[in-house]
Parts: sequence; structure tokens; C-alpha cells
Amino acid sequence: MSHEEFPTDRPAVVTCGLPYANGDLHIGHLRGYTAADAVNRSLKKLGQQSAYVCGSDMHGTPIAVGAAQRGISPEEFAMPFHEKYEETFPEFNVEFDNYGRTNDATNTEITREFVEKLEDAGYVYEDEILVAWDPEEGQPLPDRYVEGTCPYCGEQARGDECDEGCGRHLEPGEIEDPVSTLTGNPAEYREREHKYFAVSELADYLSEFLDRVEGTSNARNQPREWIEEGLQDWCITRDMDWGIDYPGEEELVLYVWVDAPIEYVSSTKQYSERVGADEYDWEAVWGRDGGDGGEIVHVIGRDIIQHHTIFWPAMLHATGHAEPRAVCATGFVTIDGKGLSTSRNRAIWAEEYLDEGFHPDLLRYYLTTMGGFQQDLDFTWERFQERVNGELVGTVGNFVYRSMLFAARNFDGTPDAEVSDEVRERIDDAVEQFERAVTEYDVRNAGDAAVELAQFGNEYIQQHEPWQLEDGSAEQAAVIRDCLQVATAVAVLLEPICPEKAETVWAQLGIDADVHAAETEAVHTEPGAFDEPDELFEKIEDDRVDELDAALEEKIAEATTDDDETDDETEDTDMDESDLEPLIDERIDFDTFESLDIRVGRIESAEGVEGADKLVRLEVDIGVETRQIVAGLKQLHDVDDLVGEKVIVLANLEKAELFGVESNGMVLAAGDQADLLTTKEGAEPGTKVL
Ligand code: MSP
Ligand code: ZN
Repeated sequence: MSHEEFPTDRPAVVTCGLPYANGDLHIGHLRGYTAADAVNRSLKKLGQQSAYVCGSDMHGTPIAVGAAQRGISPEEFAMPFHEKYEETFPEFNVEFDNYGRTNDATNTEITREFVEKLEDAGYVYEDEILVAWDPEEGQPLPDRYVEGTCPYCGEQARGDECDEGCGRHLEPGEIEDPVSTLTGNPAEYREREHKYFAVSELADYLSEFLDRVEGTSNARNQPREWIEEGLQDWCITRDMDWGIDYPGEEELVLYVWVDAPIEYVSSTKQYSERVGADEYDWEAVWGRDGGDGGEIVHVIGRDIIQHHTIFWPAMLHATGHAEPRAVCATGFVTIDGKGLSTSRNRAIWAEEYLDEGFHPDLLRYYLTTMGGFQQDLDFTWERFQERVNGELVGTVGNFVYRSMLFAARNFDGTPDAEVSDEVRERIDDAVEQFERAVTEYDVRNAGDAAVELAQFGNEYIQQHEPWQLEDGSAEQAAVIRDCLQVATAVAVLLEPICPEKAETVWAQLGIDADVHAAETEAVHTEPGAFDEPDELFEKIEDDRVDELDAALEEKIAEATTDDDETDDETEDTDMDESDLEPLIDERIDFDTFESLDIRVGRIESAEGVEGADKLVRLEVDIGVETRQIVAGLKQLHDVDDLVGEKVIVLANLEKAELFGVESNGMVLAAGDQADLLTTKEGAEPGTKVL
């Protein structure tokens, strides 16, 4: 990948998946919105010009079906949600430079223009296809109007997506055994004329694009497989009234996934028009000025990878636009291991969280730094408490408060002294760590840079014991001056994740400048005079967590009893018990178990196996010797991140050859995604697993 390092002299745009305007926002949605907000803020910290845009997804069957169920028009149904989202985002300090909606005039116009360009470039053709039809209602059944069996994996699926199984987008007519969600009757098929976008012609371009695109590995690996299996053309029209009319066709509207990503462009345009093209030029960002385009960064959930790495770049390329620089796909938020569900009330709602009186920055911190970005995140109040009390209260809050309290009492704020070289260098190291993380869109590591710096501050104050020094002395002043500089820097580096708390720290430090606009050099800003500070974060008590847990458990229990009855149109499904393989009844004796030589290993090197999508060739140190093992790990793990990981190895498995490479043992991993097994306390390589 050969992208120029941030900051570049081209503008960046950061986007996140548009919420369907059909229900309240929950912590699952917020994971992407807070992560993208942090990415945008971090890029600005590097001095990169960047805008953060989004909008409500107003079209499609998610809205049409919801409206029909309530007997109101799609517009009447969707608008109140759109308005509510506009209020909710700022409450979580998610600060969009522009928030539009897919059915506004800008997006309608730009969408038509995209389609005309596609047609002019010869990428659109018509085809007679069989689509699902409800004989009782006498109407076609696009997308979520129909459910059935996925032709690829056999799971229960929606008309346009295999949401419970392989995650693939399904074309009209593909779903097997279709049933109408309107009447519950088996659907029939009727011939209809539709428009197709010849995505298959762009397979070579898309392969090259995937070699270039930055972001998370899941957003490259899955689409590579789809391309290898052979790309299908994409039906871009639907038999519905609700949507953007297909130019020149009375009966057809555009498929929602055409106009939805185009909102990224439209929303950027609206921003540009508001601030003036001199300040932010949307045409330059999207390559409409004939240039190479700006730095386009998409943050999405893992369910919509195909739309952002196949259909969307294909549309951009075919219409002469710039391509995305990065696609970052987060794992899903789950509760009790299951997907969140709007209709079953299995969720923690954005408003509900705030009503509990918790500060938004706490949830931002939890969602953006808990676990791997690509991994699913199972929400529990205990882990929320652990992260808040441990890192925010114990490390950051504690350090900032004790340094400032001491400074206020003994020096009325910042003492007149020089910052030591040691501290200056430690701060510069933190900046470097932060910058490296941002370059990799690694929000968690960017947050670590701030928290580890605060940890250093705590150790520093502990070691230098200013309370043992003479009050008001030069020695004491020097230590406190150092601590205050660390606090100043922590606020700068934590700002992308906890913007409001960072603002509070700077205000308390008497710094008369905007921490949001501050770039990383601002870590060396001199703090001023100040009074005794307030505590930055509040500890969450155990009995509070017990209460929250009890309420959540009750909610889950209710959601579970509803499980069989509900016809759920807005569920984000994850693994369900029914997806698990049944237990094996037959028992083995202990001797058989003992005959397995299972050991702790450490990955010494890792590289992809040529020609294979998922396979990695590993050198694994298993204490007694180093083994070459081939493992299918690329779905979830980045090859480069594997080196140094502790793994569990079945050492006496017979040798095998995979893609021409010998595999001498097996690395254990869980599930289709191959989530690596590891040790908790650091057992050494070679240790037997019993
Ligand atoms: N409207 C489409 C996106 C169009 S983008 C051009 C859509 N809407 S959505 O409301 O279902 O989801 C909005 C965003 O939230 C998506 O990025 C989606 O991946 C994300 N998430 C929805 N539920 C989620 C979780 N439970 N966990 C993490 N992200 C989740 O898809
Ligand atoms: Zn499937």
C-alpha cells in the first residue's frame, strides 16, 4: 500500500454507516459513530484537514415495512427518527460537520447524476428477472418484504442479505423458499424488468483496489474471497414507490444501497457549501475536479463490508470519482453473546445510557478501546465499570487531580519552572505512539498513548514525592511543573476519545485555548494559574453495577421469551444458540485425552500462503523446538499482528500439506472466524496443556 502519510495536503473526509431512520439508536450503532468521530478528531490532531459527515438513511424496505406496519407514510415514519438522531449525536459528542438525509434535494440530485454517469459509461443494462411476488397482496416483494433460505449457506435470510449466516448480499430472486413478510404466505415469482450495474466488469479494478485500501483486514479479506468466487452484476432498481426514482423510468426506484453511500458525497457537498469551497472543497475530496481526490475514510460495521468494498468503490470508479483510502469495519456489539434487537428490546439505548446519568465520554472510551476493533464486543456493566474505574478514574483522573490539587494549593497553579528533559521526551514518545496509531486508524492504541502517559505521570509523582519536599521550594516547583505538562499532554491525546473531559482538563489548567482545535504540538502548551480542581471522573460503585445488571438481566430474559414469537425486521443478528454445533454425546477416556500433546507456543514469524485467502504460514516456538504450521487465521487476524502472540498448539497431529506448504501441528482457534486461543497468565512455550 502506497498512501502518502498523514497529514497530506489534500482534505480528508471521515464517514460512518448511515443509520436507517427506523428505530432508536443503541450502543451498537454508537460503536461506529464514536470510533469514526475519534478517527476524525485524531486526524485533525495530526494537522490533517478533515471533515466528518453522515446522514440518515431514509429509503429502502427497512423504512417502507416499518411505515406499512404503522399505517403511515414512509416519510412520516422516518422523519421523527432523523430529527431524533440529530439531537442524539451531539449528546455523545459525536460532532458531524454535516448531517444530511438520503431523501434531501442534494442527495436526490447527485444520485441521479451518478446513475446517468454509469449509464453514459455503458455500465448499466436491463434484464428480465424473476422477482418474489405476493399473490394475495398482488405486489412485488423486494428485499425485506421477503424471507427465506440463503442459497450460499442455507441459513434463514432476508430478501437482500444473509443477515444470520454468511453475511452476503443477496440479489433479487436469489433467496430460496421465499415467504412474504406481509402475509406469511409462500411467495411466487413474477418476471419483471430491472436495471443492472455490470460490477463483474470491474473485478480487476476491485482486486487492485483491495490491495491498496487501508483500514481493517476483514474489509480486505472477505471481499477478496467474493471476487475469487466470481462477481455477479448488481440489480440497482426495485419495484417500489419509496425511493429515488430511476431517471426516465416510472415504475422503478433505485435500490437503497445506491443512494445511501452517495449521501457521503452529498453530505460533504452540503458542508462545503456552508463553509465555502475555499475552506473545504468537496469536489477535490471526491475527485470531481479531475484530481486524485482526498483521503476518504469509511468507518462501518462488519455487516456492510460488501457494500463498501465492492459496490461502492465500483460505483465511484465507474463514474470517475476518487476511491476510498481506508475502510475500517468494527465488530458488532452484543449482549449476552447475542445480537442487539430493536423489536425485542435487547439493547442498551443511547438515551437510556444517558438517563442513567453516566457521562458520554465514558461510553465513548469503553466502546472505542475495549477489545480489538474488528472483534465483536460483548457489553457488560462490569466490564464498563472495570474500564472506567481502572483507567479513567484510577489512572487519568487520579493523576490529573492530584497534580493539580497540589499545584493549586502550593503555587496557585502552574509554578514558574522549566519542564525537565526526561518529561519532555516522555511526552514526545507518547505523541509518536499516538501518531503511529492514528496512521493505522487504531483508535484503541491512540487512547493507550494517553492513558499510558498518565500512568507515567502517576509513577513520576510517586517517585519524586513532592509532598516530602519543602513547600514552595524550587525542587517542588520543578516536579509539579513536570506533572502539569504531562496533564496538559494527556488531555490533548485523550481528546479524540473523551473530548469533553479533555476540554475540562484544559479549562481547569487555566489554558485559554481550544483543545479540540489543538494539534499534537500543543502537548507543550504552558498551563496557567488555577484554583483547586474538581475530580475529573467519578468511580462507579459495585451496588450500582448490581442494579444495572439486574435490570439488564430482566430485559434479556424478556427478550429471550419473545424470541420465537417475534417477526423481527430490525435485528442485528449475531451468533445464536441455534447456530452452535450440537454436543458430541460419545465420551472419550482420559488416556485418549492424554494422548493429545497440546502445548503453549509463541508465534515467531507469520506470512500469508500464496494463493490461499485465509492461510498463514507460521513458525511457532513450542519450547522443545520450532515448528512450521499452516493455519487459517486471516479472517479475523492481521498477519503482521500475529508475531509474538502466545498460542495453543496440538503438537502430535499428523503432518499435512496445505497449498504445497507442510504443516507440522495445529494452532487452536475458535469458530469459523478462527479466534486464536491463548494463555491468560503467560505460561512459557513448551508448557503442556492439561
Ligand atoms: N443504512 C445502512 C448503512 C448505509 S451506509 C451507506 C445500515 N443502517 S443500520 O442502521 O442498520 O446500521 C448503521 C450502522 O451501525 C452500520 O455501520 C452498522 O454496521 C452499524 N451497526 C448496527 N448495529 C450494530 C451493532 N450491534 N454493533 C456494531 N455496529 C452496528 O446498515
Ligand atoms: Zn448465507
